[in-house]
Amino acid sequence: MRQTPTIDPAEIRRQLAFCDQIRALLDQRPGQKVAFVDTYGCQQNEADSERLRGYLARMGYAFTDTEEGADLVLMNTCAIREHAEHRVFGNVGALSHTKRRHPGQLICLCGCMARQDHVAQRLRQSFPYVDLVFGPQLLWQFPQLLLEKLTTGKRVFATDDVPGAVAEGIPVVRQSTLKAWVSIMYGCNNFCTYCIVPYVRGRERSRQPEDILAEVRQLAQAGYKDITLLGQNVNSYGKDLGLEIDFAWLLEQINAIPGDFLIRFMTSHPKDAGPRLFDAMAACEKVAPALHLPFQSGSSRVLRAMNRKYTREGYLALVDQLRARIPEIVLTSDVIVGFPGETQEDFEETMSLIEQVRYDALFTFIFSPRRGTPAEKLPDPMPKEQKSANFQRLLQRQNEISGEKHRQYIGKTCRCLVDGQGSDGLLTARTAGGRLVHLAADPGCVGTWRQVRITEASTWALFGELAE
Ligand code: SAH
Ligand code: SF4
Ligand code: F3S
Repeated sequence: MRQTPTIDPAEIRRQLAFCDQIRALLDQRPGQKVAFVDTYGCQQNEADSERLRGYLARMGYAFTDTEEGADLVLMNTCAIREHAEHRVFGNVGALSHTKRRHPGQLICLCGCMARQDHVAQRLRQSFPYVDLVFGPQLLWQFPQLLLEKLTTGKRVFATDDVPGAVAEGIPVVRQSTLKAWVSIMYGCNNFCTYCIVPYVRGRERSRQPEDILAEVRQLAQAGYKDITLLGQNVNSYGKDLGLEIDFAWLLEQINAIPGDFLIRFMTSHPKDAGPRLFDAMAACEKVAPALHLPFQSGSSRVLRAMNRKYTREGYLALVDQLRARIPEIVLTSDVIVGFPGETQEDFEETMSLIEQVRYDALFTFIFSPRRGTPAEKLPDPMPKEQKSANFQRLLQRQNEISGEKHRQYIGKTCRCLVDGQGSDGLLTARTAGGRLVHLAADPGCVGTWRQVRITEASTWALFGELAE
């Protein structure tokens, strides 16, 4: 079995020394330097950005949330759909103006888009003011790459396809003091035929369990109350480690860590989920009663074309097994409408699946061809208008279902983590299952668990008041 390569800790210490060198360079110019880290895409990218901020803080940067006036802009990009790429290119384009007003501004681009050759090429040719580009596998080398840019003055492109590794010991500046992301693995081996992730993030590699447990212990001690374990397919955690462990085992270990926190995780691939995981979830009191279990399509024929490795029937059987063990489970999912060759009958099977499962919430996407994936080349005869009509129908029906499920909360009392304050003056909170609650209460409640009586519900959220 292939062992996951780990970056030598001495290498990370070297990167930290580069941070200190950059700090010394920046200190030669007056004033506090500020950086804007602009994150697109999934939670994995959010987690990566917290490490990039960790490096930047070590270099002496403070943080801002706008490109205007920033000394360094770092765009951590997403390539999952065309729309995501358009947004990034639009925003990179706009940076030419901010850079003109602030000529010393450093512009860096990283993340999943950076690993695509056509993107790197376009950045080289059409965006000469972008200073540094690096792919997700080279995140740990950010200080070295930035120092190279600063000392040579030349643009740096580190976008080659290098094998991924696991790097420990990168500093981290977290966005929240309540909720934390913990990546437990990187990359993906599944090659769903529509998906770009395995190409840009490389093969699956797991962190050593002791590193994950140490991080969670630290978070629990620091008072974090909501910890989300991240991976493209957390259910295959550990398969590359050559140890007798799996994801359910990891949940049990984390559950045993003292502290008043909830454990969430995403994403679970149905092909690797089953009774062993569901039993562990049911037995671990800290594991939130919530599962994000993407189904992608209700048609077994389309699932085969997507290389998902389960059938409609298999998926529905999983949902039954899950609900038999955890009846109150909050179930969410992803679905793609208009995969190449999807017929109207296939789509009706997706409609009937959401009717049968009744998800609490659903993330709906129209198929977006990604360069270099098998699905890009498949014949795609369904007209755009029909796809978007189907998409609207699915969305509308799911909204009704979500609204109905939310209304069932009215009159109930739920333990919620109060996590912030919205612009409307109401506080925001989350049920254990992860549903959003708008709460009329004193801002002093933020950061605490509260019993909340649900008084109203909409498609998207619940509304409530303190029950004490
Ligand atoms: N690893 C996760 C998914 C990560 S991508 C999993 O397997 O569940 C998040 C979602 O984006 C996917 O679940 C899928 O529904 C959607 N998606 C991925 N590629 C897409 C594409 N080319 N077009 C449209 N939606 C896509
Ligand atoms: Fe993409 Fe499939 Fe991997 Fe998820 S499991 S990241 S959808 S290839
Ligand atoms: Fe996007 Fe990369 Fe995540 S493509 S969805 S940021 S893994």
